[in-house]
Amino acid sequence: MKGLVYHGPGKRSWDTVPDPTIEVPTDVVVHIDSSTICGTDLHILKGDVPAVQPGTILGHEAVGTIVEKGAGVTTLEIGDRVIVSCITACGRCRFCKEGHYGLCSGGGGWIFGHLIDGLQAEYARVPFADTSVYKVPPELDDEEVLFLADILPTAYEVGVLNGRVEPGDTVAIVGAGPIGLAAVLTASLFTPAHIVAIDMDDARLERARELGADVTINNSSGAALAAVQQLTGGLGADVAIEAVGVPDTFELCTELVRPGGRVANVGVHGHSATLHLETLWIRDLTITTGLVDTFTTPRLLNLIAEGKLNALPFATHYFPLGETMSAYDTFGEAAKSHALKVVLTAVPLHAMPAAKPEKALVGVS
Ligand SMILES: NC(=O)c1ccc[n+]([C@@H]2O[C@H](COP(=O)([O-])OP(=O)(O)OC[C@H]3O[C@@H](n4cnc5c(N)ncnc54)[C@H](O)[C@@H]3O)[C@@H](O)[C@H]2O)c1
Ligand SMILES: [Zn+2]
Ligand SMILES: [Zn+2]
Repeated sequence: MKGLVYHGPGKRSWDTVPDPTIEVPTDVVVHIDSSTICGTDLHILKGDVPAVQPGTILGHEAVGTIVEKGAGVTTLEIGDRVIVSCITACGRCRFCKEGHYGLCSGGGGWIFGHLIDGLQAEYARVPFADTSVYKVPPELDDEEVLFLADILPTAYEVGVLNGRVEPGDTVAIVGAGPIGLAAVLTASLFTPAHIVAIDMDDARLERARELGADVTINNSSGAALAAVQQLTGGLGADVAIEAVGVPDTFELCTELVRPGGRVANVGVHGHSATLHLETLWIRDLTITTGLVDTFTTPRLLNLIAEGKLNALPFATHYFPLGETMSAYDTFGEAAKSHALKVVLTAVPLHAMPAAKPEKALVGVS
């Protein structure tokens, strides 16, 4: 089969690789129907995630169809269409039992495109299938649910829920990339008084307005702090969500919130940020961090199925799966291409010669 293979910092290619197979009885193999690229994949390609070994297929977000299942899989059938999430859950460890699947110590957690082969490929092996995938209601298209594989639960859990957004709050969201915009969308579920989106890219701020931000601030000239103070009568925001991952924006978030406010850090940081305890200690702040657990995926899926949440605006560019290399180029120059999420679409399984991976490969590439 074909897959997008990481060959060390700065190097990727669309290679012919061995077909995945069932390795343990709790595995399934899925035909990838739709996949996408994450900012984290770009971090990996920069060499920021050294745990990723050269030779690994990247990607941790997909919708796929089960084509093979291990003897130990009891709740899924061949032919089921499922969301394959960025987080896998063994279902047995202490953290899984507490719903902290991101911290899974039984072999799950964030493993796709990180510790095992990922989902930017024609097929993928999915470990712990019973406890890790989500069946897709037949009336929903792939791109309606694809972003449940990462950005929606990430922004909702690590941003909105950790920040304890409440009705009437002023919520400042720093960074209007896919994660920050998903925070705008899911913060709206709580009817805040204001959602303030802060970025340095006017096109992304425009997107934030479309998704529910009522105030947008271009912070290129450092105007955000004064603007948020003015909006809140000098108090500051109730919640600040950090969705960039650099020291400046983390420190800005700690300044943006009122005394007693909450800072929810979502950004992945490559450098240390300063925690100014000399000024913060007296302000009763709560600061949270986290990797997504995806415990809210069923709830968010239900909201999408009921028409209460629309993830379609995140899909800005479409490519055939076989053009994943070009999709990376477009996604990697988002400032120019205005890409938010690219949708990589495979040849549908029913259009392929046979349902088994080894046979289905004929004529695919
Ligand atoms: N915690 C988790 O589980 C988790 C999961 C996925 C992604 N992430 C992280 O979330 C962060 C956001 O992801 P994304 O895909 O939206 O990234 P992105 O790079 O697409 O978006 C970041 C946005 O921040 C803006 N920005 C950059 N510097 C800024 C500044 N100084 N002030 C204001 N805005 C600024 C950029 O213009 C851009 O729009 C990343 O660090 C990513 O790695 C965390
Ligand atoms: Zn991701
Ligand atoms: Zn576990």
